[in-house]
Amino acid sequence: MGAVLLDGKSLSREIEDDLKLRVSKLKKNGIEPHLAVILIGDDIASHVYVRNKENACKRTGIISTKVILPMATLEEEVLQIIDEMNKNNDIHGILVQSPTPRHIDELKITERIDPTKDVDGFHPWNLGKLVQGDMRGLIPCTPAGIMKLLNNAKINLVGKKVTVIGRSRIVGMPLSLMLAQKGVDATVTITHSRSKDIEKICMTSDVIIAALGRPEFVKKEWIKHSTVIVDVGISRIIDSSTNKYELVGDVESSAMEKASYMTPVPGGVGPMTIAMLLTNTVNAANSN
Ligand code: GUN
Repeated sequence: MGAVLLDGKSLSREIEDDLKLRVSKLKKNGIEPHLAVILIGDDIASHVYVRNKENACKRTGIISTKVILPMATLEEEVLQIIDEMNKNNDIHGILVQSPTPRHIDELKITERIDPTKDVDGFHPWNLGKLVQGDMRGLIPCTPAGIMKLLNNAKINLVGKKVTVIGRSRIVGMPLSLMLAQKGVDATVTITHSRSKDIEKICMTSDVIIAALGRPEFVKKEWIKHSTVIVDVGISRIIDSSTNKYELVGDVESSAMEKASYMTPVPGGVGPMTIAMLLTNTVNAANSN
């Protein structure tokens, strides 16, 4: 029997429906939730992601402002724009799309954003709250979306062996904290590019969360029957048999035959990330 799909697209639309109501209530009280996105350079995938964020804002009634800057923009110029957005009471959420060009220090950029407008949840103030198990800060969107997907499918993580592949600031690291926190109670193994025997670790895992950005890295043979698989990756590759482009995740899609639950690619984690970004924006507007 194949895996049950963890359908992020339909869950994200339910979340958006709730947000639409919250947004219209806020508007009645004179608050218009507003997300500002800064995109530096011409990375094609980033432009697509930002367009998806804009479209989701439109669907839910959130105002969105997009600032597109050329690749050669100086770090100081970006910091100045952030300072202006921090001061602007009409803007509730600020996001600088990652990756930024190499000459721009993402950590410096993140620290400059007012933590109450940090809808990515990457500011040390918000991450510090997360480390302390305080979920009242703004929570990183992809990890929050994954937790919602697992929770919605009533997948109990207490005492389960969960392997996270990838230790990024955006996904792997904050997600590992959320999985290990009290109340979730998973036993978390963080693996990364220097880890040995990832394959063996996967074979004894109840849940595998692949977030390393390498197409089809996790093989069907690496997983035991009934493993839960969350695939954060999305890469465009050429299918050698058809010579056509296709989207694949970090896990071979045939793993579906052994898994108990699995996120599809696309339509799994991606839409949940956006739904959590909108949620953070509405929460930020609400607490102003
Ligand atoms: N690039 C890929 N994912 C993200 C995200 O969640 N936030 C930002 N700012 N950039 C990203």
